[in-house]
Amino acid sequence: MKITTISILTLFAVTTMNAQNKAHLDKTKPIEERIDLLMKQMTLEEKVGQMNQYNGFWEVTGPAPKGGTAELKYEHLRKGWVGSMLTVRGVDQVRAVQKIAVEQTRLGIPLIIGFDVIHGYKTLSPIPLAEAASWDLAAIKKSAQVAAAEASASGINWTFGPMVDISREARWGRVMEGAGEDPFLGSKIAEARVKGFQGDSFGDLEKVNTIAACAKHFAAYGFSESGKEYNTVDIGNATLYNTVLPPFKAAKDAGVRTFMNSFNILNGIPATGNKFLQRDILKGKWNFNGYVITDWASIREMIIHGFAADGKEASQRAVEAGADMDMESHLYVAELVNLVKEGKVDVKLVDDAVRRILRVKFELGLFDNPFLYCDEKREKETVGSKANNDTVLDMAKKSIVLLKNEKNLLPLKKSGQKIALIGALAKDKTSPLGSWRIAAEDNSAVSVLEGMQQYKGNQLTYEKGADLTVGKTTFVDELVFNTTDKSGFEAAKKIASTADVVVMVLGEHGFQSGEGRSRTNLDLPGVQQELLEEIYKVNPNIVLVLNNGRPLALPWAAEKIPAIVEAWQLGTQTGNAVAQVLYGDYNPSGKLPMSFPRNVGQCPIYYNFHNTGRPTNSENNVFWSHYTDVEKTPQFPFGFGLSYTTFEYKNLKLDKSTYSKGEKVNVSVELTNTGYFDGKEVVQLYIRDVTASLSRPVKELKGFELVELKKGETKTIRFTLTENELGFFDNNGNYLVEPGTFKVFVGTNSDEVKETEFVLK
Ligand code: BGC
Repeated sequence: MKITTISILTLFAVTTMNAQNKAHLDKTKPIEERIDLLMKQMTLEEKVGQMNQYNGFWEVTGPAPKGGTAELKYEHLRKGWVGSMLTVRGVDQVRAVQKIAVEQTRLGIPLIIGFDVIHGYKTLSPIPLAEAASWDLAAIKKSAQVAAAEASASGINWTFGPMVDISREARWGRVMEGAGEDPFLGSKIAEARVKGFQGDSFGDLEKVNTIAACAKHFAAYGFSESGKEYNTVDIGNATLYNTVLPPFKAAKDAGVRTFMNSFNILNGIPATGNKFLQRDILKGKWNFNGYVITDWASIREMIIHGFAADGKEASQRAVEAGADMDMESHLYVAELVNLVKEGKVDVKLVDDAVRRILRVKFELGLFDNPFLYCDEKREKETVGSKANNDTVLDMAKKSIVLLKNEKNLLPLKKSGQKIALIGALAKDKTSPLGSWRIAAEDNSAVSVLEGMQQYKGNQLTYEKGADLTVGKTTFVDELVFNTTDKSGFEAAKKIASTADVVVMVLGEHGFQSGEGRSRTNLDLPGVQQELLEEIYKVNPNIVLVLNNGRPLALPWAAEKIPAIVEAWQLGTQTGNAVAQVLYGDYNPSGKLPMSFPRNVGQCPIYYNFHNTGRPTNSENNVFWSHYTDVEKTPQFPFGFGLSYTTFEYKNLKLDKSTYSKGEKVNVSVELTNTGYFDGKEVVQLYIRDVTASLSRPVKELKGFELVELKKGETKTIRFTLTENELGFFDNNGNYLVEPGTFKVFVGTNSDEVKETEFVLK
């Protein structure tokens, strides 16, 4: 019945469409001319329609409005009042809505189909924070390519990623979606992800396996006060220009085609209504010619923020501020036409937004073939392929960080051992998928238990010990951690007591970080800490494998447990990656992209802090910058991560001691693999501008290199510092390189470094 109705409507629409001038479909014409030709034919309503994005309302066989909003959306879609849809996925669904757009609307303008393809579509990579721990830009780029290939084969042509929000706040659940606390690393990763999603040259239509990317959330969402989701942001210009904006600028320079604004206010002004961010900086200073999508219903939320009296005022403020497309506020479509007719909004603003949106649609090839991304054959071949699984497995291994390895408990011996595996997360096949899972089926991850079972030489036993949560674990439900049930402890203790090594997989559930998942505690939820301590009493030979979407504060474990492996949520191939690392078939080389605190009270804690006027205890009294109850250093610093082998740094050298402005500073250091395994090391270079017109951080990452060394091998690693690395932004956003003394640090993490210095004249 449904299908018949659609077919009749389709026939009618094709006839209507044929009446239109199709000159804009001429591929040989330049895109800007094609946009002109199309815009000349568009009514004001149709233009505003391009600025409207709706969430999907489909059923698998096609759109099936059931009344209410869905019916209205369907009607709007047919009228050409919808420019984009999100969360529609799979060739069937996309084809169904796209057919309505191109065959039933007056002008047949194709939809752009967006989705949160954050760390994979069906074959999931590690969560982005975990990927950042690899410091491996080529691997990160490849992982985004896989996500784009699967998504584009399934009808999607635009991802709401990468999230490039810098955050120093472990309490904030969305740190799992970003690249951590550092703007330099964050910028490099932003570039890698944009190029992975979009390809090196976006708009090359031979490459339909790429999609448009979106740098989000513009801006400063990662600085929500106390890490509480959607909270107020109140940061100074020094932080805005030097910490928040650089990864967005890097994304822009890498060619990202869209930006998403954010839910937060920044110094009193909601990002969605923030002209300074969107018009002055992004579209002005940076000359960005793609478009800005709002975050979900963020135009409407400006009323709740107390920044607009009603939907009409909110729409006016948003469009004036440079928000081009309305995601699910349903306000542009309701208000903009009248606002223009009443002379309150200049039609030029609408024209500018529409031009930007159409530009990206043309670049994506949607006008040449609206079904370019709807290829059932490619969908079948690409989604979930063996090659994609190989890529995400490789990425997963590279994301693992070895935090502690006393007595060389790791790697595990491959035979003759009794291994007790404990923890509900060890058997969990859904938590490792993280909280953005798009097309991945529930329970589709390889669990750690399954991964360990591949190694048959040992005797492996499993007990969960205790559940992690009570009740439902879903994307929308609040997780409940008041598990008091310790009835599984005894069985777990029993297998532990006779084991040679106990592997415990503990941490957070995959749905415990992500949007709306802020925490005030960074401990092991539920009764896991108690379980850990109970097992330790019967067998201290524990390898603790952590699963988490944010830094945790585990001081007891850091002191007592001999081996700790940070395994985040590693996606589809989690268990295989963890097992290969535990058994030494892969030597870990990950480094933390965020500082891990000793306790939650230290948050926000980050390595690139300012010195303050009282950094040390020179007078041996209480009046210095510290806490009285805990050390001021983190438990594990930014950039920290061990290997099964060891590395020695020697001979840090500069080619000169004084440089003139514009001259290159050449830095070299010798690195030797002094251990018993071949391995990889992330060599990190930091600088400090000792005296400047603004106080500069005590250390700033300005270079890194992933180096592979055979055991016993030595390599000389070279870095070049230019003005791009030596300067900073003043409080007006001007980039300055100031003369004076600079310290240079090179080492294995932000804390353990060799040091030298030079003078810039
Ligand atoms: C999130 C965005 C996301 C959007 C669409 C919002 O709640 O903040 O990051 O892209 O939803 O799913």
